[in-house]
Formats: sequence, structure tokens, C-alpha cells
Amino acid sequence: MADKVPALKYTQLFINNEFVDSASGKKFPVINPATGQKIAEVSEGDKADVDKAVAAAKAAFKRGSVWREMDASARAKLMNKLADLIERDAKQIANLLTLEGGKLFYGSFYEATSSATTLRYYAGWCDKITGKTIPTDGPYFTYTRKEPIGVVGQIIPWNFPLGMAMWKWGPALATGCTIVLKPAEQTPLATLHVAALAKEAGFPDGVINVIPGYGPTAGAAISSHPDITKVAFTGSTEVGKIIMEAAAKSNLKKISLELGGKSPLIVLDDVNVDEAVQIAHDAIFVNQGQVCCAGTRTFVHESIYDEFVQKSKAKAEARKIGDPFDVTVQHGPQIDDEIFERVMSYIKSGKEQGARVECGGERYGDKGYFVKPTVFSNVTDEMKIAREEIFGPVQSIIKFKTLEEVIERANNTTYGLASGILTNDINSALTVANALEAGSVWINCYNALQSSTPFGGYKMSGIGRDCGEESLEEYLEVKTVSVKLPMKS
Ligand code: NAI
Ligand code: MG
Repeated sequence: MADKVPALKYTQLFINNEFVDSASGKKFPVINPATGQKIAEVSEGDKADVDKAVAAAKAAFKRGSVWREMDASARAKLMNKLADLIERDAKQIANLLTLEGGKLFYGSFYEATSSATTLRYYAGWCDKITGKTIPTDGPYFTYTRKEPIGVVGQIIPWNFPLGMAMWKWGPALATGCTIVLKPAEQTPLATLHVAALAKEAGFPDGVINVIPGYGPTAGAAISSHPDITKVAFTGSTEVGKIIMEAAAKSNLKKISLELGGKSPLIVLDDVNVDEAVQIAHDAIFVNQGQVCCAGTRTFVHESIYDEFVQKSKAKAEARKIGDPFDVTVQHGPQIDDEIFERVMSYIKSGKEQGARVECGGERYGDKGYFVKPTVFSNVTDEMKIAREEIFGPVQSIIKFKTLEEVIERANNTTYGLASGILTNDINSALTVANALEAGSVWINCYNALQSSTPFGGYKMSGIGRDCGEESLEEYLEVKTVSVKLPMKS
């Protein structure tokens, strides 16, 4: 594995286009979750460093600055250049993502290349952000301008470190904002590499700043900063609430939150069972179940329930576990010991509350944070494993009888991020699609996410949207300009 480990060139904070130590001089360890071994010491940003980064981002955003004066088409060129460089370094970036996050190498490679796709998608928007002319009563000519909101803070999780960062850089750069981003403490390395690429692409000083560090220190400094006018967050619902409160208590900065989920995938009795089992399996086990929109509640019609459970069990048992750099491996480790323990405690509670472990349910190996792919049958709605976000490789298969009943039960959650329905009946599919309280509904597929499709949550799964045209609005202010015209014109 050693030959796949790139030289770790970038382990400092990235402020004003320079890599620098933190003000405190402190560093924190980054651990390889597949082995539990330390792979790097990274500079630990704190309030003082966030202040410095915000000052740089503010100067970069100032009226008359290079960035503010830049043509939108030139901004697009820079974004496309950064996308080119990410593609050039995709293998190196993928190595970093796998090393720090335990993600399967091919998943990491896809994350790198799809991050370039996201930047290209948003580069296309740069010169297409338009206001309106509005018919008004009286002798007025009225139009609106869409203006960048200013210095934005972005707080990123560890499950798709680069993917989530680019979902947030894309609209921020397309609209002309400047950025202070904090990666998750577990996964700063790939993002720092891409920060170096942003400098190479030619982004002006201060437009992009990256401050690795912990949530309650660096993260809190971002969410309560008086000069940050918008904060975008992806992570737990618990921290989403803290960020909303910090935004309210500081300067009422605009927020967008992409939070947890407990997404239902409904399988009707007219499906090809083998195909449905595969879709449901991928919906939960991709990325070791560490996906906010994972299909964690597999609702299966009673007439195919037993067959579905047996086939799901066989598929989960066959999943090859091991070194995420090995391209034949399908299942890597959880991100860290804390998340590992959390997943194991949910498995324990499932057993205690009477669900049946069809397979898995225990640790794999004696190093790293591997959890065997786990399938529970006989799961009922009130069990903890059916109500709370586990964020691990745990499938709960739940029985239902009628469409009306399953719609009610699928919606009986505080979350509303994603959902799916597998059926060949168009009427059932569209009835469910309309009825589910969720930001995404996937029909006969799952995780069909793209940079062009808005993604976000109903209810406690969040506020606002990532991706698509919708995400641009999160980074824009609307200004109304009214001009009084001469009376007889
Ligand atoms: P978390 O929400 O604590 O961490 C996500 C990001 O928020 C990290 O960058 C972290 O440093 C930052 N953060 C933490 N506390 C903060 C604070 N007080 N102020 C500002 N920023 C703060 O998530 P964690 O602890 O890594 O995972 C816990 C659970 O959260 C998971 O088991 C899962 O259920 C959920 N989660 C959901 C994600 C999603 O994609 N929606 C991603 C990661 C976790
Ligand atoms: Mg946390």
C-alpha cells in the first residue's frame, strides 16, 4: 500500500493563496480508518486563523478588487481551469480521499472526477445569472440585480469531503462570492490539495481559503463570524441546530443546512425481485452506509418479503470487505472509532428491541473500523434502528401491506431528505412520488444525484438546496432598482 501513498505536500492552512501554520502552532492527527494509523499532522485552525481568512476573503470581495471587477466569463474560465487540474490530478486526489476517509478507491476516483463535473456545471452559470425587469404602477422603470452575498463560510463533513466541498464552491464561485471553508477534521487532505490547484488555476488571493480544524473551535468561529454573510453546512442535524443558533445570535447570516436522513425505499410486489434487491442493497451499503440520503428503511410488500430478505442477506454476506485500495474490495471501514462505536450501539439496540440479524451485526478484523454489512429483518417502525440515523452499513427491512399504509409510515419521521419507490406501475409510482415528504424521490433507481439536480431536505433534513440552479440562490442577494421616469416619456 505504501507506494500508493502520495507525498503529503499540503498539511497547512490555506489563507490568501498561501499555505501557513496556524496562529497557535497547533497540529492535529489525521488517521487512516483502514488501519487506525496516523498518516499526517495537519495545522489546526482556530478563531484567530478564521479571522485571518475572513479578512483575506473580505479584501478579495471588496468593491474594485480583481475578483469583483472580473468578467463573469473570466470567472467561468478559472473554474473550468480548476476542473481541468482536478482531472489531471484525479488519481492523486483519489489516493488522498481513500487514505484519509477509508473510501473505496474507485469511489474516490469518481468523487474527484465528479467534483470537476460540478465545477464545470457551475462555470456554465457564471454569465447566466440574471435579474428581471418588472412592470410597475406609475412612471417607473424597475429591474432587479442578483448580487453575490459576500464572504461565505462552508462547513463540510467527512463522508464525501471533496464532493461536498465542490457542491459548495461551485455556486459560491459562479455567483462571485469569496470562501472560507472548513473541512471535517477527519478529512482535510484532498481539499488542501485542491486548494493548491485553485492557486495554480489563477484564482486571485483571498477568494478561496481553507481552514482545517475542529467543529466547536474553527467551525463555531465561522458560524458566528460577524463578517461572514452566509454559511453552508452539511453534517448532523444536531450541529445544524447549533449553526442556526450561532447565525441568529451573531449577524443573522443566511444559512443552508443539508442534514441527516432516514430515507424510505418502498418496494412494491410487481417488481423483479433480484433487480429490486440489488437497488436496495446499493442504496444502503454504498460508502459503508455513510451517506445522508442512504435508503435506510427498506419497506417491502408482504407478498415478496421473505424472498427479498433471503436475497438481501445473500448479497450483503457476499460483499467483499478489506483494504479500500484493493479494487476487488466492495466494503471499507467506517470513518473513525467514534462513528464505529455509534454504529455498533445501534446494532446492539436493534438486537435488544427484537429485530432479527440476518447477517453481519459485528466487527470485522482487529484493526481499523470495519463493520460487517448487516441486514435486519422483522424491523418495526418504533424501533430505534427504524427511527434514528445510523450512518453505517445497516439495512432494516420492514414489511407493509398497502400503498396508503406505507406512504403514511414512510412519512412518519422527523427527516425528509430522500426516498425511493420500485414498481412497474406508473400510477403507484407517481402517487408515492407526490405523497412523500422528501427533497428527492427516485423511481426505479436510487442515489440518482447530479450537479444539475437540486438536493436537500424537507423537515429536519435541512434548509435550502445544494446543486442545480436552486443552489445559486443561496449565494445571491436580490436588489430592486427603481428609476422614476419623466412623466411624458
Ligand atoms: P458533525 O455534524 O459533528 O460534523 C460535520 C462537520 O461539522 C465537521 O466539519 C465538524 O467539524 C463540524 N462541526 C462539528 N461541531 C460543530 C460546531 N459546534 N460548530 C460548527 N461546526 C461543527 O458530524 P459527525 O460528528 O462527524 O457525525 C455524527 C453524525 O452526523 C453521523 O453519525 C451522521 O448521522 C451525521 N452526519 C451526516 C452527514 C450528512 O451527509 N448529512 C455527514 C456527516 C455526519
Ligand atoms: Mg460531531
